[in-house]
Amino acid sequence: MRVQVAIIGSGPAGLLLGQLLHLAGIDAVIIEQRSRDYVLGRIRAGVLEQGTVEMLDRAGVGARLHREGLIHEGFDILFGGARHRVDLSGLTGGKKVVVYGQTEVTKDLLDARAASGAKTVFEAGEVSLHGLDATHPKVRYLKEGREHQVECDFIAGCDGFHGISRRSVPQSAMQTYERVYPFGWLGVLSDTRPVSDELIYVSHERGFALCSMRSPTRSRCYVQCSLAEDLEQWPDERFWGELRSRLDPKTAEALVSGPSIEKSIAPLRSFVAEPMRFGRLFLAGDAAHIVPPTGAKGLNLAASDVHYLSGALIDYYASASSAALDGYSARALRRVWQAERFSWWMTDLLHRFPEHGPFGEKVHAAELEFLVGSRAAMSALAESYVGLPY
Ligand code: FAD
Ligand code: DHB
Repeated sequence: MRVQVAIIGSGPAGLLLGQLLHLAGIDAVIIEQRSRDYVLGRIRAGVLEQGTVEMLDRAGVGARLHREGLIHEGFDILFGGARHRVDLSGLTGGKKVVVYGQTEVTKDLLDARAASGAKTVFEAGEVSLHGLDATHPKVRYLKEGREHQVECDFIAGCDGFHGISRRSVPQSAMQTYERVYPFGWLGVLSDTRPVSDELIYVSHERGFALCSMRSPTRSRCYVQCSLAEDLEQWPDERFWGELRSRLDPKTAEALVSGPSIEKSIAPLRSFVAEPMRFGRLFLAGDAAHIVPPTGAKGLNLAASDVHYLSGALIDYYASASSAALDGYSARALRRVWQAERFSWWMTDLLHRFPEHGPFGEKVHAAELEFLVGSRAAMSALAESYVGLPY
């Protein structure tokens, strides 16, 4: 097979890039190691920045999002037994976020791709990249016992943190920066009414918690947990009890619990690979960087990378100039590091770190008090939460 762009991975980054290239008349194939159902079954992000929504509109997949997505103009921070509202819209001149599951974004993109007839290979085994610094790099994979080869002009590595793309770059050509956090998030999805119309981020002695949602009848909640936790030890009642113990009495009483329809533990990590390019391979999304989920930035960063990368590829095929492609990594990384800073800060602010000790706890309490008492500090939080400009 010969295409202009080979995209590795059909997560949000790969699918959105595929759609934008397809609309621009650029021939691309998506090569995904898992099945379509597996990709659709992953429960992950829930909060979309306005810029991400605009990108999905540009990709022609925004209709259901506008019908079913929940527009949020603020969220609460709960600490010391009291809830404090962050008025996102009031603090940012009217900006909002939309609560719409990553699963739904993925479904809309997969449906649009299938309708357009664009090529996707699911269940591709042993994907490998070759000739990244040659004019025509190649992707090889196994499908139904046979080896296949795709020759292309460029490879877009959109295969997430554990993918093959970043690992195909010689170590000396890429610098990595990493911070691993000493805890994880235990998340539960349930068909229960959300405890509040807006998200509640909780800082409590027992650890962080988050009450989020997917719809007016579906909740998504998380509690900070030790990395050594075993899901088997977390029957639903224990999860709801732990969450309730981190809420103020009024919210705890309003919390409706019910059977989980998904339960998982996610580790927290900050990670950046620089540059986001090697020869004709361009990395986008989690393949190049990870943020801890506290600031709701991962999916949104994948979208902003795709904004820069799709623009650069479209420019290349329209003008034969590689200037935009050459500038891709630096442009994307500027925004990536802003999101890294914000996600690190919000994680630090709201979680319990075993190593912080009594002094650290007191400083955290003071920081939370300062935040909710200062319009300037609240504005800084709101500005990053709704998403920095592209
Ligand atoms: P992925 O979604 O990881 O997709 C990569 C794809 O590549 C996958 O389909 C994978 O199967 C495929 N792949 C992997 N290896 C190969 C290979 N060798 N060959 C071919 N294909 C391969 N972000 C937000 O913005 N807001 C949130 O509220 C938020 N909440 C989160 C909550 C949790 C619990 C978690 C875990 C994450 C959250 N995130 C959030 C982060 C967000 O889910 C990710 O940043 C996002 O999925 C990144 O998209 P991606 O397309 O880059 O990578
Ligand atoms: C969700 C996840 C997040 O990391 C976050 O900050 C907000 C919401 C969610 O899954 O709904």
